[in-house]
Amino acid sequence: VNQLLYDGKAKSLYFIDGKDDEVLQAFKDSITAFNNPKPYIFEGKGVVTCQISSHVFKFLERNGIKTHLISSNDSATQVVQKLDILKIEITVRNYAFGNILKRSHFIKGEKLSEPLIEFMYKEDKFGDPLISEDYVLKYLLNNNEELFKEIKKLSFRINELLIEFFKAIDITLGDFKIEVGLNKDKELILADEISGDTCRLRDNLNNLLPLDKDLLREDIGNVLDGYKEILRRIKIKYSDL
Ligand code: ATP
Ligand code: TYD
Repeated sequence: VNQLLYDGKAKSLYFIDGKDDEVLQAFKDSITAFNNPKPYIFEGKGVVTCQISSHVFKFLERNGIKTHLISSNDSATQVVQKLDILKIEITVRNYAFGNILKRSHFIKGEKLSEPLIEFMYKEDKFGDPLISEDYVLKYLLNNNEELFKEIKKLSFRINELLIEFFKAIDITLGDFKIEVGLNKDKELILADEISGDTCRLRDNLNNLLPLDKDLLREDIGNVLDGYKEILRRIKIKYSDL
């Protein structure tokens, strides 16, 4: 058994014997919602989110995005590059859902005329609050304007690619969250996961109903069934990934 590096709410990271710059990312069956620290367990969820994320990351790699993914198989674990994760969570929104409805003029489900990027402070004890770009630049990125520009450019490019990826399987990308980190060469790399847990994904074939974590958040269906449907379509369309 590998030694535990970090035990998170949705994933655990493990050291790999003999490797300094790679870790195992293990996806859990647990899912948290409603600011409730107690997770719900859906048996088999970890395998499904891991597979979704692996396919998405391979697609992004194929389109020129540097990601932490090194290898994956049919399990709930991936080998990834060990990174210094930046203390920000980046969200990109194409449609108005969730948090932003409490602090903007947008109405639920409205299409934004342009994608909107927002930054949250990645700090559990504060509940990942929205922060200003000035705070990000000056206090989280050490005034590195070039890095900040690169982060924004990367996030919008990932948005374009994800819109295309999901459109081809009749899914509309509402919004998503990503995390990024720096490797030992100080290169900016996409980290963490992209799955139904971290995106709003709406079914074009079924009245734009959610296939994502909103099924649980809004208590409108079985979240694992939604994730399985996303993966089923990905496997058909992207069998080469
Ligand atoms: P957090 O709030 O810090 O994201 P969490 O418990 O909500 O924690 P999980 O997804 O369960 O989040 O945990 C995964 C953790 O692994 C996160 O802290 C994430 O930043 C970190 N992580 C993801 N990819 C890498 C990587 N390549 N190298 C190092 N750490 C990573
Ligand atoms: P957001 O509307 O900010 O939060 P919520 O609706 O959960 O209050 O979320 C935007 C998108 O980013 C949504 O698809 C969920 C995802 N997200 C995460 O996966 N983790 C996070 O910590 C945050 C802030 C967002």
